[in-house]
Amino acid sequence: MKKVLIATDKPFAKAAVDGVRNIIEKAGHELVLLEKYTTHQELVDAAAKADAMIIRSDKANKEVIDNSNTLKIIVRAGAGFDNIDLEACTAKGIVAMNTPGQNSNAVAELVMGMLVYLARNGFDGSAGTELKGKKLGLHAFGYIGKIVARIAQGFGMEVYAYSPSLSKNTERGKEFGVIGVKTPEELYDKCDIVSLHMPANADTKGSINYDLMSRLPENGIVINTARKEVINEEDMVKIMNERPKFKFATDIQPSNHNEMLEKFGNRYLASAKKCGAQTSEANINAGLAAANQIVGFFKSGDETFRVNK
Ligand code: 3PG
Repeated sequence: MKKVLIATDKPFAKAAVDGVRNIIEKAGHELVLLEKYTTHQELVDAAAKADAMIIRSDKANKEVIDNSNTLKIIVRAGAGFDNIDLEACTAKGIVAMNTPGQNSNAVAELVMGMLVYLARNGFDGSAGTELKGKKLGLHAFGYIGKIVARIAQGFGMEVYAYSPSLSKNTERGKEFGVIGVKTPEELYDKCDIVSLHMPANADTKGSINYDLMSRLPENGIVINTARKEVINEEDMVKIMNERPKFKFATDIQPSNHNEMLEKFGNRYLASAKKCGAQTSEANINAGLAAANQIVGFFKSGDETFRVNK
């Protein structure tokens, strides 16, 4: 019997926890729940007694990993695994996994909601703009980008996409009804609106900078449901100061949130707490996938979706 910990500062919907419990207990393991914890130490202590751990954006850092002599597997119920110290996992022989695609629809729907909010000036009653006929650029084109493309096409938008792999063969965009471009610069040159879907890594951090954003039109829009680190925050303030019609919505509050709110009113929108993947459907999809991956790992050593070497 293995001890499987769900450690979520931002808890899953109850239906997701019930579903995870069912899978874990049916496989003969024990489920332990640590929700809404207030100190990092609580996570460190709980992880020290667990064989497996399911997390969301919770920080599985070196301290958590080095303090546990029991952990064999950590599954990030979601896409981005920048919150896991992969090197520390590898050094301790711990397998790290994610659950790609499981919460993508929820994030894609939020992108469109944020876009409508900004296009309609925060629903303040003034004349806004429509999305129909506008050019939407998807910066990175994975699970979420592909769903955003499909929904945006329903709005009558013309959809462009850039990703490192698509740039090698832009013709592949046609499979998804999008126009593939070769460089980020080309995407921002051609589009009215850009939605960000890249992971946070050494290549992408701070990459959404003045040079790129200034290629959008005067009334350009940037939507960020990826990670706050990908945006150069100073450059964002600069461009919004220079262009009174430029708009920005983000699901992850930037470090300068209060300044942005004060200066830019309803040209700026930030979620109170990152909520792109916070739907019961996404919680159930990602939570159950994580539970099944853990059961498969202990049963047969299945390492599909492993993200560390
Ligand atoms: C992800 O990487 O899957 C999303 O950013 C969702 O993160 P969350 O589980 O913390 O809501």
